[in-house]
Amino acid sequence: MIAPSILSADFARLGEEVAAVAGHGDTRADWVHVDVMDNHFVPNLTLGLPVVQSLLKVTDVPLDCHLMIEDPDRWAPGYAEAGAYNVTVHVEAAHDPVMLAKNLRAAGAKAGLSIKPNTPLEPHLETLKHYDTLLVMSVEPGFGGQSFIPDVLEKVRTARRLVDTGHLQVLVEIDGGINTDTIEQAAEAGVDCFVAGSAVYGAQDPGQAVAALRAQADR
Ligand code: DX5
Ligand code: ZN
Repeated sequence: MIAPSILSADFARLGEEVAAVAGHGDTRADWVHVDVMDNHFVPNLTLGLPVVQSLLKVTDVPLDCHLMIEDPDRWAPGYAEAGAYNVTVHVEAAHDPVMLAKNLRAAGAKAGLSIKPNTPLEPHLETLKHYDTLLVMSVEPGFGGQSFIPDVLEKVRTARRLVDTGHLQVLVEIDGGINTDTIEQAAEAGVDCFVAGSAVYGAQDPGQAVAALRAQADR
């Protein structure tokens, strides 16, 4: 699955930018990835619930909301109630991540857990069964256009093994530095869903960029 990140889109034309990856066939995004940043958990500020609510009105592509915010326990359920398909919170920020996952599911969304590059996965493996997605960050969260950190693929392999042996039912997602050069190694490690910002919205034709990533991941 390919999830273009609108962090690299033109914020003045967000509806059109989402429509550019909502066509048919290989050029259609599986999800659109929405990076919510609060300038506290990460040193950058993007958009919040009102923009997500507006996007939900203009697209039928499921929205994958990645909350890079403090106190997601308080704010994340609002995104689920609004109709976001998947709501992902950071393990480093949530006070009670398992309770939060339950609240997100009760509000009708899938629940995701995200983990920064330097945060070990092992202490959280036992709780992963409460989530639908695991978002492995392959850059420090905050900005698009950074270089892929290959070391995080070890976490992808660990999660993949648990999924394949039936000990876990989560989609493994990766976010940061994914492009046609890096996507193959991530695919080999066992990623199910690839987030790509600059590789999609930095391209002349975002839909074609989605198709190119898809082709490269399937090689
Ligand atoms: C970074 C965001 C990413 C970002 C990825 O903090 O979580 O979703 O948009 O951008 P690229 O694909 O350019 O690394
Ligand atoms: Zn993201």
